Amino acid sequence: MNASATLATALPAGLKRLTMAAFPTPLEAAHRLGEALGLGLYVKREDCSGYGLGGNKLRKLDFIMADVLAKGHDAVITTAGAQSNFCRALAAASAKLGLACGLLLRGSGADAVQGNLLLDQVFGATVRFTDVTDPWDPRVKTELTALAEVLRAQGRNPAVVHLPGATASLAAAAWVTGAEELDAQWRAAGIDPAALYVAVGSGLTMAGLALGLKRAGRRCRVVGISVQQPRERIVPWIVETAAGAARLAGIETVLTAGDFDLDDSHRGPAYGVPSDASLEALAMAGRHEGLILDPVYTGKAMAGLIAHARAGAIARGETVAFLHSGGTPGLFVHSDLVARSMT
Ligand SMILES: Cc1ncc(COP(=O)(O)O)c(C=O)c1O
Repeated sequence: MNASATLATALPAGLKRLTMAAFPTPLEAAHRLGEALGLGLYVKREDCSGYGLGGNKLRKLDFIMADVLAKGHDAVITTAGAQSNFCRALAAASAKLGLACGLLLRGSGADAVQGNLLLDQVFGATVRFTDVTDPWDPRVKTELTALAEVLRAQGRNPAVVHLPGATASLAAAAWVTGAEELDAQWRAAGIDPAALYVAVGSGLTMAGLALGLKRAGRRCRVVGISVQQPRERIVPWIVETAAGAARLAGIETVLTAGDFDLDDSHRGPAYGVPSDASLEALAMAGRHEGLILDPVYTGKAMAGLIAHARAGAIARGETVAFLHSGGTPGLFVHSDLVARSMT
């Protein structure tokens, strides 16, 4: 089944928004995987959100790029890891809008040009590498300034787009529209999921989703599976950015830490390193549904869902939703490991 519906309610408060991505993204029943887990399982296909191989960043970029254009910029710069999905999506959005894009990527430049890094080049971004691993180290600011100078020398007027910084509340507000879309699609499909599983990196997607579903009056428990940060770090940040998103969007609903669940026990060996459970989840999704997960985000989130189902934390026969947040290029970066795990 493939149920989709138009937005039930638009975000208030006059937030500017472009319409670059393909919304609403599909909601699909995953019958065979659901049956294997003893659940009624639905997948929100945000991996199908459109240009540049899609994913959860495109919903954020409809708002972020509207803001960048409104402020008169014709270039963007950001910094993240060499395999950042956000950087790849930003490069693709910039190409689509005719903006220049500068990326300061953590790494030596000696890594294989594969996955997101390969796509950054396909989309024409100017890529520089940094060996500074802490994004808050003052040297990062200096290197970003130097990159901005490169773009200025080309006659461009760059904006710094940094997700953990000032852009965070706007990105979380963007995901309130994801909650509105889900609410409408669940109504159209006649389902009322008990839980929605989502991969948590920066937590901004989770913040907007949990805020929006609470505002919609849904019983649905949003369950975040952290792939990087421990619970005690990420939970207060989710609450803080949800408050910022509510302010921006003119929403009175207040999201508290008690409104959602956060499980940080599926992070595996480290951020960006596939766990055995994520590789098993990849195989299960692929072999039951033809669904492609990635080992860094969605594989770990699905591993969390599978573990909860097996442990009985989700009642048998219950209806559950899973946000497929994209990340597909990451699969190819770990192709050797993934291939070995499939035998
Ligand atoms: C594929 C994918 N899924 C999920 C996430 C997590 O989203 P957020 O950073 O909003 O928590 C990310 C973040 O980079 C991502 O790339």
